[in-house]
Amino acid sequence: MSNVNGGRPAVHQTGGTGWPGVLGKRVLVTGGTRGLGEQIVRLLAAEGARVATCARTARDLETLAASMDSAVFTQPLDVTAPEELEGFVAAAVKRFGGLDGVVACAGGSRGGGFEQADAEDWAATWEVNVGHTVRLVRAAVPHLRAAGGGSVVVISSISGWKPGPPVQYGVAKSAQIQLAASLARELGPDGIRVNAVSPGSMLIPGRRWERMRREEPEAFARFVAAELPGGEPVAPQEVARVVAFLLSDWSSGISGAHLPVDRAQNAPSPEGY
Ligand SMILES: NC(=O)c1ccc[n+]([C@@H]2O[C@H](COP(=O)([O-])OP(=O)(O)OC[C@H]3O[C@@H](n4cnc5c(N)ncnc54)[C@H](OP(=O)(O)O)[C@@H]3O)[C@@H](O)[C@H]2O)c1
Repeated sequence: MSNVNGGRPAVHQTGGTGWPGVLGKRVLVTGGTRGLGEQIVRLLAAEGARVATCARTARDLETLAASMDSAVFTQPLDVTAPEELEGFVAAAVKRFGGLDGVVACAGGSRGGGFEQADAEDWAATWEVNVGHTVRLVRAAVPHLRAAGGGSVVVISSISGWKPGPPVQYGVAKSAQIQLAASLARELGPDGIRVNAVSPGSMLIPGRRWERMRREEPEAFARFVAAELPGGEPVAPQEVARVVAFLLSDWSSGISGAHLPVDRAQNAPSPEGY
C-alpha cells in the first residue's frame, strides 16, 4: 500500500498503526480561553481539527486566536444564555459545514460552604455546569446526527464522584457524569458517543491550586503528600490528550464511560471528608 495513512501529515504516522487523530474533525469547545479548555483548543487545532470556542471575555478570545498558528472560530458569549449558546452552535456549523464533536468544558462554582451558599449560588453553579451542557448537546445533536454520528465529551471533575466542598459544585459535576451515561444510551442509536472526563486538581495559572502552591507552599506540599500519590497534580495538557482521544475514531468503542484523569488522586481538596 503506497499511502496507508490517507495522506495525513507524518505526525499521525505512528508506526503505521493508522491512528487517525482528530485531523479534519469539526469540534466546538466551550470555555476555551484559559485552563483546560485552552489546552483542548490548542491541541485539537495543532492536530488538524477545525475548532470553534467561546468565552465571555472577547479580548481573551482575540488573544487566543492571535496566538495560534491555525484559525480558530471564536464568539464571545455566556454559555448560561440559551440563545447565545444555540446561536454559536449554529454559527460554527455554518462556518464548518457540519459538526463532528462538542466538548462541554466551561464550568465552575459559585458561593462558599454549605451554610453560606444561597439558592442563587446553587442555581448559578448548576447552570454553568449542567444547564449549559444540556443545551449544548441538544443544539449539537441534529448536526452530529447529520454527520453520521459524533463524539460528545463532558468535562466533569474529581469533585463529581468524590466528596469535598463546595457541595453545590460536587452535586453539579456529579450530575454531568450521570448525564453523559444516560445520553450515551439515548443517542447511541444515532452513532453519537457521550463520555464524561473527570480531571483531578489541575495547576491552572491564577486558579486555586496554582495560587495555593505559590502562596501557601507548605500547605500545598501537605495536600500533595496526603492526596496525590503521583507526587504532583495532573496537568491540563494531559487531560486534553484524553479528550482528543475521545473525539477521535480510535475511541469508537467507548461511550457512556466516566474517565477520571487524576493520577489516582484521593480527596479532591485539602478539606476532603
Ligand atoms: N481547575 C481544576 O483544577 C479543575 C478540576 C476538575 C475539573 N475542572 C473542570 O474543568 C473545566 C475547566 O476548568 P478550568 O479551571 O480550566 O477553567 P477556568 O480556568 O475557570 O476557565 C474557564 C473557561 O470557561 C470560560 N467560561 C467560564 N464561565 C463561562 C460562561 N458562563 N460562559 C462562557 N464561558 C465561560 C472562561 O472564560 P470567561 O471567564 O471569559 O467566560 C474560560 O475560558 C470546568 O468544567 C471545571 O469544572 C477543573
